[in-house]
Amino acid sequence: MAEKLDACRVPGGDAPIDLQLMFPGKQACWLEIGFGGAEHMITQAVHNPAAGIIGCEPFLEGVAKALAGIDETGADNVRVWPDDTRPLIARLPDNSLDRVFILFPDPWPKRRQHKRRLVQPAFLAMLHPKMKSGSQIRFATDVKSYADEALLAFLSDGRFEWAANSADNWRRAPADHVTTRYETKQLGDCRPVWFDFRVR
Ligand SMILES: C[S@@+](CC[C@H](N)C(=O)[O-])C[C@H]1O[C@@H](n2cnc3c(N)ncnc32)[C@H](O)[C@@H]1O
Repeated sequence: MAEKLDACRVPGGDAPIDLQLMFPGKQACWLEIGFGGAEHMITQAVHNPAAGIIGCEPFLEGVAKALAGIDETGADNVRVWPDDTRPLIARLPDNSLDRVFILFPDPWPKRRQHKRRLVQPAFLAMLHPKMKSGSQIRFATDVKSYADEALLAFLSDGRFEWAANSADNWRRAPADHVTTRYETKQLGDCRPVWFDFRVR
């Protein structure tokens, strides 16, 4: 596994990430945060060969699944960061991301755990400069308090425009969504919601 990971991992260290070097000839860079079993990331990579996709996932079993998916599909446009997404985001050039996916992030359902949730104002403040103007971010959850909290964080930031114009936009999975393993477990306390934002 170590050899396979070396072949497609984002280089470590503190140096800024050179996306041209990592994805030569690709027209766009996408980021999936917490890809879990990697089913969404690998399918998106196959469907979107013009995009280079960076997937972040500290859970080793998930990383192994991503490597297996890359092997099975021959996708050459995925790079894996087997760790916390935040140090990776810090190393990305400004205005470099075209799409970001945060699908069913760890829910931390108890009130005292909410501060551990990934999507918070400080996280969005860190992510926003890395995203191109007009780029897209998708957030999904099946935990009501996280949906409320995340929506408030995105909208109060003021730089993320919510594309929804009817309830169906957030109640129904978007046409290009790929069902994830966690989503099928239905462990949350509400039906899944999908929030698509456009970055100002
Ligand atoms: C509830 S799971 C959902 C996985 C997948 N997105 C899905 O829908 O099946 C959340 C995932 O996010 C990962 N994760 C948690 N914190 C993270 C972080 N700071 N950076 C990257 N991944 C993270 C966890 O290891 C876990 O696999």
